[in-house]
Amino acid sequence: MPVLQLRRSESSLRAEMPEERARAAPFLKWVGGKTTLLAELLRHVPPRATLRRYHEPFVGGGALFFAVAPRRAVLSDNNAELVHCYGQVRDDVHGVLDALARHVYEKAHYQNIRALDPLHLPPAARAARFIYLNKTCFNGLWRVNRAGRFNVPIGRYTNPRFHDPSALIAASQALKGVEIVHAPFEAALVRAAAGDFVYLDPPYDPVSATSSFASYTADGFTWDDQKRLARACIALNRRGVRFLLSNSATERVRELYRGFEQRTVRAPRFINSKAESRGRVAELLVFNA
Ligand SMILES: C[S@@+](CC[C@H](N)C(=O)[O-])C[C@H]1O[C@@H](n2cnc3c(N)ncnc32)[C@H](O)[C@@H]1O
Repeated sequence: MPVLQLRRSESSLRAEMPEERARAAPFLKWVGGKTTLLAELLRHVPPRATLRRYHEPFVGGGALFFAVAPRRAVLSDNNAELVHCYGQVRDDVHGVLDALARHVYEKAHYQNIRALDPLHLPPAARAARFIYLNKTCFNGLWRVNRAGRFNVPIGRYTNPRFHDPSALIAASQALKGVEIVHAPFEAALVRAAAGDFVYLDPPYDPVSATSSFASYTADGFTWDDQKRLARACIALNRRGVRFLLSNSATERVRELYRGFEQRTVRAPRFINSKAESRGRVAELLVFNA
């Protein structure tokens, strides 16, 4: 496996980091990432001072979490590799950076790394593998086969930045004290209590049969899952938990959340590989306050 020499030691970079917290941002490129919708989403988040606890049970790249930078938070997702990666970035960011510095953007190396069983790697190397594949694969997609093996081909980039010490250290600082949990959304939501705020960004209801990118995990996310999620939101509302949910603005999603506040916003979406399907699409925000 080709090994890239560290140009500068991690410790010299560490010494340069300012004491105050750098502004953190998502360190992954995630399908459905919410960076472009942030301003709209932030309008519905309670002020930081009044926010008892923040929950994000479909965390993905965590765009809203990093923008809000809540004092107390629980982040979860049912993608085990993603959750492991967040935990390592929080607890051992320098170990992850050291492991990332050994990677190179090169097809044979990519294929070797992709073929590794993550469960046989040391924790920091496993997280670094996840970040490396995420930043160098086609479109930042995370797709696994039936056996749960990542199977996305390498993408074309000029100089993909998978080893980015200041960004990863800032993310690590934002994650300090945050609970990171591997769980399906229903198990995660049981923990939200009155006064908490939950942001829900599930895999979207497909706007057409060909636009389904709902297979974020080996299981996919079905219409039945959407219905269970709507029931979970009704339960949150009854318990006095404030929530904000985003989804595609399809008729059946509007109908599912009838009785809650709804607002349509327009956001650029780039996941469809057919150029004509790219562009601004209507998204639905659902909330209870
Ligand atoms: C649309 S993405 C979230 C994007 C995120 N808001 C961002 O800014 O990057 C949906 C996430 O839901 C996760 N997911 C899919 N099914 C799930 C389930 N049943 N329970 C919990 N998480 C699930 C996927 O692994 C994926 O990370």
